[in-house]
Amino acid sequence: MKSVTLHDKTFVPYISNAELMAAIDKVAEKIIENHKNDTEPPILLCVLNGSVMFVSELMKRIELPLELMSIKVASYSGTSSVGPVKEVQGLTGSVKGRNVIVCEDIVDTGKTLAYLSETLHERGAAKVEMCTMLTKPDVYKGNIPLDYVGLEIENRFIVGFGLDYDQLGRNINEIYILKQ
Ligand code: IMP
Ligand code: MG
Repeated sequence: MKSVTLHDKTFVPYISNAELMAAIDKVAEKIIENHKNDTEPPILLCVLNGSVMFVSELMKRIELPLELMSIKVASYSGTSSVGPVKEVQGLTGSVKGRNVIVCEDIVDTGKTLAYLSETLHERGAAKVEMCTMLTKPDVYKGNIPLDYVGLEIENRFIVGFGLDYDQLGRNINEIYILKQ
């Protein structure tokens, strides 16, 4: 089987690009269904850096007026989620009175999600929805509902399609998993 080595770890294929595309198609359909009658264009909020590939695939499928904004947060180091969520780069525009769809690469502990939900409400968003390409249901025990989920995965460390291991692997066009 093909494998990739990033820093000191080896990863093997886990989710194919075709499977990701099919999952993103479904997420886009659901967003269109829920937002086709919005009076103001919703804001897709890209959570940098991990969500870039997901959002670029997702937004081109949503054939509705929409705005794109981004924010950069960090809580991860190596292969585990540590410490509080830090806003490394602030919101690129106002969300006051707007419908915001937060787009995450993956929801793991949900710490990032909880932080974003709180800060967006504080900043006056009318409605905040959560959209994620992947989630680890065995880990996520938060009470904020996930409105749009691409695929559910087991509690293992993955890379690719935007996700990194210490900044490497984001450019892989499918998802790889840490070899056991
Ligand atoms: P949470 O705050 O624990 O939900 O973690 C969310 C963030 O941690 C994601 O946006 C990712 O950037 C990162 N993350 C979580 N799980 C993984 C993984 O398996 N591989 C790479 N990054 C991950
Ligand atoms: Mg990361």
